[in-house]
Amino acid sequence: MLQSKIVGVGHYLPERVVTNYDLVNLMDTSDEWIRERSGIEERRFATFGVDTTANMGTKAARIALERAGLEPDDVDFIVFATLSPDYYFPGPGVTVQKELGIKTVGALDVRNQCSGFIYGLSVADQFIKTGMYKTILVIGSEIHSNGLDMTTRGRAVSVLFGDGAGAAVLQAEEDPSKGILSTHLHSQGEFADVLCVKAPGNFKEKKFYEGMLEDFDMIAPQMDGQLVFKNAVTRFAEVIYEALETNNFTTDDIDMLVTHQANLRISQFLQKKMQLPDDRVYNNIMKYGNTTAATIPIVLSELWEQKRIKPNDLYMLAAFGSGFTWASAIIRW
Ligand code: ACO
Repeated sequence: MLQSKIVGVGHYLPERVVTNYDLVNLMDTSDEWIRERSGIEERRFATFGVDTTANMGTKAARIALERAGLEPDDVDFIVFATLSPDYYFPGPGVTVQKELGIKTVGALDVRNQCSGFIYGLSVADQFIKTGMYKTILVIGSEIHSNGLDMTTRGRAVSVLFGDGAGAAVLQAEEDPSKGILSTHLHSQGEFADVLCVKAPGNFKEKKFYEGMLEDFDMIAPQMDGQLVFKNAVTRFAEVIYEALETNNFTTDDIDMLVTHQANLRISQFLQKKMQLPDDRVYNNIMKYGNTTAATIPIVLSELWEQKRIKPNDLYMLAAFGSGFTWASAIIRW
């Protein structure tokens, strides 16, 4: 059986930097509150007319392909994870196919929020394992900023999110000890309403109903932060240990823990639980906030740029988010 390996990663961040101090001008919040609760200091916001969810993904994908020494035409399949598509339908996967000028390969859109990139990676891994495709582009990209409630009413959620994109290119690997060793996917739909945006949707008789634009509880993200936090710390740990046990590893074997960046306190809790030193975890939530499906490939791309991705190192990727969904992937580079 073939394995799949990541042969290139890239990322793109919108130019506009929005600090916690900028948010203080829009709502009743403070740098201290945001920093203490979440670790976030600043985030990037997309510029209308310049950035789209698809074109940011395309930019990240071009870098990933270049680092892999590949051309767009080498891509056999596209997987695009986002919760913030440019159109209600179709999803942005087809736009990336057009923007990269790739022949008529398949493009699949994945909707698993913060776990979206690992779900996408897992899908791509299965296609490569079966020999169906040789080269797959997996992209995570989000524009949250234009859908957040940037008033005091929405502050518990809006201060946490940022925009950005990341991408990875996967190819077949014949050495069974290398590449993606396993992926682990979970969900628990009973918590679907705990972290969601409902409108426009079929929970109403008409998708576009009178008063919808003022119905902020439906059109802006809603979250029971403490319930999410409690579930996140438990599920992150479970899915990480599941991956370790499946492959007969212990925490000592992990060279780099890459957790989805939802809250620095969640990442620090996991680091402590697993007794990992600082140089074996990577956090960038301070600079970008929660970029949802884009977070993990952005981290991988930054590690690549810092030359901290080394052959034979063991990478543990894990994510938790809306759904609830959670997932892990363990990779021998
Ligand atoms: N600035 C100032 N005060 C605020 C803000 C703000 N931005 N937001 C909320 N507050 C207030 C609240 O109104 C509340 O005030 P009260 O005590 O007078 O009622 C107080 O601060 C405490 O609010 P809590 O919500 O209890 O704060 P908490 O300590 O739980 O931290 C946080 C909130 C940061 C959201 C945390 O719960 C968290 O990180 N949860 C997990 C987030 C996560 O993992 N999300 C998953 C991924 S997202 C995805 O999948 C799309």
